[in-house]
Amino acid sequence: MDQAHKYYLSYRQIHETVQELARRIEAAHFDPDVIVAIGTGGFIPARILKTFINRPVYAVGISYYGLDNVPRATPQTIQWIDEVERKLADKRVLLVDEVDDSRVTLEYCLRELLGHGPKEVAVAVLHNKNKEKRGTLPGEIRHYFVGREMEDRWICYPWDAEDIGAHEARATV
Ligand code: G4P
Ligand code: MG
Repeated sequence: MDQAHKYYLSYRQIHETVQELARRIEAAHFDPDVIVAIGTGGFIPARILKTFINRPVYAVGISYYGLDNVPRATPQTIQWIDEVERKLADKRVLLVDEVDDSRVTLEYCLRELLGHGPKEVAVAVLHNKNKEKRGTLPGEIRHYFVGREMEDRWICYPWDAEDIGAHEARATV
């Protein structure tokens, strides 16, 4: 994919998109008890979200791609929440990730979380790619918040940049 067909996003754009997300979450009157970030892409968005919605942030690691970058048959849990029953049972959980792409990882993670007796689980993603999804959101999910709807192009996030100056110079709205 050539550069013109990718989106380059700056830290400022990410921060502003998280703030818009937070506004939408508040407008929907969804008041989470805890935030769960899907690593690693969800870590920085979840931390920024905490600035606007100040709740404990837990991290989970789900890997869909093996070290050879080929998708596995199903995602694998590589890191999970300690004392998960105590932390999630009867709680309102907001699951945060950077991008909803195939939706496979998201669905897997939502089903895991729903297995621990939460009061409610909602999803917040910075970006949703408009494409046919292989995963589905379970019927229990009543709130799905998106920062920005995107075409199906590769998104270059600032935390992946090796040269942040060059990256930020390419970033456009
Ligand atoms: P989904 O359920 O959230 O749609 O995730 P999916 O399994 O389709 O995504 C697989 C991996 O591909 C995820 O990373 C996701 O962050 C990454 N990805 C998908 N589209 C893009 C994109 O446009 N830009 C970038 N930079 N990444 C993308 P992962 O394997 O979970 O690893 P990590 O990078 O979050 O650590
Ligand atoms: Mg990710």
